[in-house]
Amino acid sequence: MTTSNTPQDRLKRAAARAAIDHLLPGEVVGVGSGSTVNFFIEELGARRNQFPTAVSSSSGSTERLRAQGINVLDLNEVIAAGRRIPVYVDGADEINASLQMVKGGGGALTREKIVAAASERFVCIVDRSKWVECLGRFPLPVEVIPMAVELVCARLRLIGGVPTVREGKVTDNGNLILDVAGLSITQPDLLEAEINQWAGVVTVGLFARQPASVALVATPEGVEERRAAGAAPATR
Ligand code: A5P
Repeated sequence: MTTSNTPQDRLKRAAARAAIDHLLPGEVVGVGSGSTVNFFIEELGARRNQFPTAVSSSSGSTERLRAQGINVLDLNEVIAAGRRIPVYVDGADEINASLQMVKGGGGALTREKIVAAASERFVCIVDRSKWVECLGRFPLPVEVIPMAVELVCARLRLIGGVPTVREGKVTDNGNLILDVAGLSITQPDLLEAEINQWAGVVTVGLFARQPASVALVATPEGVEERRAAGAAPATR
């Protein structure tokens, strides 16, 4: 149970609760990671009869889901059985008006991207502090194979980044995280494609080529449902 109750926590919980209306009862729920998702997991647990199964994006979320009595399925089994994951719910470190995101503050970016890619819709739950005009103020997380850390750091410096290795962090996949400051991310989809194809990079924490389908942005006045400018409703 999440006990802290700061004003920001109340916003996170409000966004998390609003996500419940976007789920399909009886179907597998895709579950992200992070403090906002932890509130979502509590909301899900309170409705476990309607939403008994999930696919998880991190060991931390798996543990919390199981503690709520939710059955966590292996993604490969779900896909092999031809089952759907209609909705993936996750937070973000930053999100822009095109619903492109920076993610990975918790280090779970690779599994988050995998479960998001396996899901039909991405519902992003954030408090208003995450809404930005231009991505890049939050240092961009990059998951890297340990032997390639210096190689990838050198390449990041060439494009103006200032990378640091996240201290004490080993991902669920046994890799390291670089946090890259100093990037002004004006073309998120191009930067995502570029960094992703460097040798040694597992995943860059830009979720731009597959943005969210909808953002539930919690403000003190209520939760706003925002879609990408020009996007058709309920598409991805
Ligand atoms: C986890 O790796 C991240 O991608 C999170 O989704 C992101 O950091 C948002 O986390 P909070 O909800 O804790 O801000």
